[in-house]
Amino acid sequence: MNANLEDALNSVQAVQLGILGLGTVGSGTLNVLTRNADEIARRAGRPIRVTRASVRDLSRARLCDTSGVALTTDPYEVIDDPKIRIVAELIGGTTLARELVLAAIRRGKHVITANKALIACHGNEIFAAAEKKRVIVGFEAAVAGGIPIIKAIREGLAGNRIEWLVGIINGTSNFILTEMRDKGRAFGDVLKEAQARGYAEADPTLDIEGIDAAHKLTILAAIAFGIPLQYECVHVEGITKVTAQDMAFAEQLGYRIKHLGIARRGVGGIELRVHPTLVPVRRIVANVDGVMNAVLVKGDAVGHTLYYGAGAGADPTGSAVVADIIDVVRALTLDPKNRVPHLAFQPSSLAGSMPILPMGQTETACYLRLHAEDRPGVLADVTRILGNLGISIEAMLQKELVKGETHVPVILLTQRVQEAAMDQAIANIEALPAIRGPVVRLRMETLS
Ligand code: HSE
Repeated sequence: MNANLEDALNSVQAVQLGILGLGTVGSGTLNVLTRNADEIARRAGRPIRVTRASVRDLSRARLCDTSGVALTTDPYEVIDDPKIRIVAELIGGTTLARELVLAAIRRGKHVITANKALIACHGNEIFAAAEKKRVIVGFEAAVAGGIPIIKAIREGLAGNRIEWLVGIINGTSNFILTEMRDKGRAFGDVLKEAQARGYAEADPTLDIEGIDAAHKLTILAAIAFGIPLQYECVHVEGITKVTAQDMAFAEQLGYRIKHLGIARRGVGGIELRVHPTLVPVRRIVANVDGVMNAVLVKGDAVGHTLYYGAGAGADPTGSAVVADIIDVVRALTLDPKNRVPHLAFQPSSLAGSMPILPMGQTETACYLRLHAEDRPGVLADVTRILGNLGISIEAMLQKELVKGETHVPVILLTQRVQEAAMDQAIANIEALPAIRGPVVRLRMETLS
């Protein structure tokens, strides 16, 4: 750093930051703040110092250097410290985290959080409290780890009418699907590795059942369309039912199964859904592998834009937390009335009446796998059912009969169809005597 600039920065008072939680994300945040302290001070206009942090267990070994930081097991010691102007909530969960965030706001502190469950489920309440107290709540790290997707949508694409967005927004699920596909590894084994690497949530069912992705999609949809946070309206499916067999069939047909969060303006409302989805292999999204995340956004003016990066992990998430901290520090010297609103749109302009479509009214192409008796006329019955419901077939694949078996796997790809019509078709197909067991349905997005 140039000596004059260094003197100038040292002459202004450092902003004091308190951290709640020094787990994976907390440690990553502290490490980034320490490692890049000079650059950060230049960007923020003044140094940022972590003076206090709360932890669950004082004796536990940490992944960061805490020298100079007063550690406590009582989070209120952090938020009650009058010198601390910014509190980073990095403990996760929604009960204590909500209480602490609201308490910090009441004390006039700015808050940064990486907690997607908290924002998705309690964000409306938290932002209302923050607006009342005229403090900032930053949540860049809550979606897609290190990718600055909140800033991109809320600010960079502010001139657009967003038409849809599609994201691989759970690193753990993407990591599991990639390892299963590329290395034939078992689901449970890969999940254990994701936990060991710090990608997975404390409760990994949030990852593999799609809940974590639904939290993130809730936030993305709110800032993309200017609607309140409505987690309860998201259709949620995880990756636990995706089999190696379906992955192989999809691959043979030129598709990959990715776990996607999809928010789209549909007819008469907004589609909000999270589920495993077939995507053509040639699309970039189909090639986003491992713990990497990607969000593809379609704006009316800009067209398609794609954001790609590490979706989980200590430093990438720390990167997003620190970016928010810097934004707050910069804003401390600006006109507080001219801040970017939390959900991108002015609070009074949130379109609470814009409906979120029930899943039955959403439209998507489908992959169907059924087990059909190997005799004439069975496929004709199946295609008649689809035809009668106006469902058009895109491709079909029938596997050869395995010796000793009476039924063969049949794969059908359909064109886009309303979910309710497909539900009906599946029920009718399953009722055919020549069909054995349930029909596997995976949604398919060509992203064209
Ligand atoms: N468990 C999350 C994931 C961490 O796997 O993406 C980042 O939010």
